[in-house]
Amino acid sequence: MTDVLDVLLSHRSIRRFKTDPIPEEDLLRAVSAGQQAATSSNIQGYCAIRVTDPDVRAALVPLTGGQAKVASCPLFMAICGDTRRHRLLAARAGEDYQSNLEGFMLAVIDATLFAQNMVIAFESMGYGTCYIGGLREDLPAVHEVLRTPEGVWPLFGLCVGLPDQEPRRRPRLETDAVLFDDRYPSDGEVLASIDDYDRVMHDWYRSNGIDTPDWSARIRQHFAEKHRTRNAAWYLGAGASFD
Ligand SMILES: Cc1cc2nc3c(=O)[nH]c(=O)nc-3n(C[C@H](O)[C@H](O)[C@H](O)COP(=O)(O)O)c2cc1C
Repeated sequence: MTDVLDVLLSHRSIRRFKTDPIPEEDLLRAVSAGQQAATSSNIQGYCAIRVTDPDVRAALVPLTGGQAKVASCPLFMAICGDTRRHRLLAARAGEDYQSNLEGFMLAVIDATLFAQNMVIAFESMGYGTCYIGGLREDLPAVHEVLRTPEGVWPLFGLCVGLPDQEPRRRPRLETDAVLFDDRYPSDGEVLASIDDYDRVMHDWYRSNGIDTPDWSARIRQHFAEKHRTRNAAWYLGAGASFD
């Protein structure tokens, strides 16, 4: 058993996998570990849809922005916020089910903690993982493919398998850029902490052949436009409420 902190601190996303299948027992251990994550009021508002059918996997590639690893990785799961079982319980008892922003956030937070616990479990067993936010590129089509009912909201995918690459860890901001004492720092302090990180990432991008001057430029570029603009409407149509 590897030390948990070592596992956490050696995380790096894996995007190329060996073809070895993942034994069912390892999958079940990871799912159990995911389920043991804390969950808001024990509502357990999540599910994972494991996609085994090669045709369904192939269908998901263009729907995730052309990410071939979605089809080629040994294990792919769609992680969803899941309020379906809560709704069914209310309907069976003839009682009201009230949806609002808080209910949506509970499901998103619970599903994310579930997924991240699974990631840690998989990585502790020697597997590599990659989240796939690209699953939100075309939610109407993803919903058709996975047949998600009202109250089930695909959030992101997760690729898992034995690594077939050894990428370098991607440095993060210094801890003092994210851990503050007693008050939120001034804008000047926030920007100064990023200047240091830009120098680190400049070198990291160069040595990894990524054509970006620095992290700031990447972030500016990312947020210069809106992404996935149809998703609020889709989630609302699938039973979410942002009230
Ligand atoms: C919610 C979420 C969605 C992500 N979506 C994708 C994705 O669609 N494709 C991909 O290759 N990586 C994806 N990633 C991986 C991130 O790009 C990666 O975690 C980040 O660049 C930091 O790199 P590292 O994980 O190697 O440390 C995603 C990560 C998260 C947390």
